[in-house]
Amino acid sequence: MTIPCDILVFGGTGDLALHKLLPALYHLYREARLHNAVRIIALARRTLHRDDYLKLAERHCRVQIARDDFDEEVWRRFCARLDYFAMDAAQSADFGRLARYLGEPGGLSRIYYLATAPNLFVPIANHLRIAGLADPEARIVLEKPIGHSLESATAINQAIGAVFDESQVFRIDHYLGKETVQNLMALRFANALLEPVWRNGQVDHVQISVCETLGVENRGGYYDRAGATRDMLQNHLLQLLCLVAMEPPAQFEAEAVRDEKVKILRALKPITGQDVQDKTVRGQYSAGHIGGQEVPAYYFEKDVDNDSDTETFVAVQAQVDNWRWAGVPFYLRTGKRMARRSSQIVIQFKPVPHELFSGGQVNQLLIQLQPDERISLRMMTKSPGKGMRLEPVELNLNLAQVFGQTRRWEAYERLLLDVLEGDSTLFMRRDEVEAAWAWIDPILNGWEEHFQAPRPYHAGSNGPEQANSLLTRQGRHWYS
Ligand code: BG6
Repeated sequence: MTIPCDILVFGGTGDLALHKLLPALYHLYREARLHNAVRIIALARRTLHRDDYLKLAERHCRVQIARDDFDEEVWRRFCARLDYFAMDAAQSADFGRLARYLGEPGGLSRIYYLATAPNLFVPIANHLRIAGLADPEARIVLEKPIGHSLESATAINQAIGAVFDESQVFRIDHYLGKETVQNLMALRFANALLEPVWRNGQVDHVQISVCETLGVENRGGYYDRAGATRDMLQNHLLQLLCLVAMEPPAQFEAEAVRDEKVKILRALKPITGQDVQDKTVRGQYSAGHIGGQEVPAYYFEKDVDNDSDTETFVAVQAQVDNWRWAGVPFYLRTGKRMARRSSQIVIQFKPVPHELFSGGQVNQLLIQLQPDERISLRMMTKSPGKGMRLEPVELNLNLAQVFGQTRRWEAYERLLLDVLEGDSTLFMRRDEVEAAWAWIDPILNGWEEHFQAPRPYHAGSNGPEQANSLLTRQGRHWYS
């Protein structure tokens, strides 16, 4: 059981709170992971009575939580711990009201979860300080993206750092809470087998893809200012890259792990000048079909500018300039409204040094995050019958089957629990966020300088053709 605390969710009526945070807290509550004295307070501008908020929460949670896991009695008790407080996070006076509402801490820690736009992070932190709510026991959780550039991220980090110590700050990237992503660390650092081949002599290239069929849903306003690069590449994909490329940390603890990750981010070769044209592709979906349904072009989505040139797809060829990875391309891509939902990391090994049998002989390690969580190793074998005809077969590790779990933990459950336990191993440290922006900024600037408009791709396709050429011109292709 975790510490007794008040969990305050700013942005309490938003999608993140209703679709992810409340269901995660419900599961933790149901599994008795939360202290009996916990209070969850949703904060937002809308004037709502507590009962109306509980109805809103229930409506969303019933959709998000599997029917078998939704226990009416547990939900009733969970609701008794849940409250709503209407306030404007931009108004200092409202924090005085909030302090009075919360009362004396009386041994309760306070956790502030900022599920809001990043432009509210600094005002909220400052107002908490002025209202005397930022005591040394408090923790603050910041959702990505932190800022929209290195400059803005540094300003946010600095201002937050003036109120909270770094040990109190939890910068969340929910990809780090995914089971398979953590398994990647187990795979690498708990098995002696892979280490000798996890390097440039043996690895031909690495692919990291996060493809979604979803569009921008109700988040057009935010997304149109962010785009795929700020929304996904700067954080989720770079974090995955770090876990693939980092050196083994000396201990599995927050500083050691994050020290190794930041070294990788700093070793990323900057993409500047002509490389922006040659090594990046940005795209935007036009109308198309997904699962038999017609979907509109991006610029017709709700709250999106009609002449928007925001990218909904980005592909990049990155390079980690260090001893282990010299010369190994890392291809990253992410996009919305693509043909199928699938996220994976592919480690493509080099062919055998001397070919004895005809037919491509390549090993490939696949770490699949979505839709299923599995790890598989492609090996070459002889197909039955006369003659040496080779076939690839997969050694398959289906994690759900192996462990026979009834319910998979959602990333937010694990990460919220880590916040409650004060463990920041799976959270981004300030220098990590800034190093990631330092690599992203020149790409964004390069696009702007060269007026590099996004290439159109049909919704329901695999992204713009140019993203394929990124690999095919080097004799490679995206895993499908
Ligand atoms: C979020 C992005 O961080 O991750 C969304 O803001 C994206 O645009 C989502 O859809 C993808 O997460 P997941 O866990 O569904 O792969």
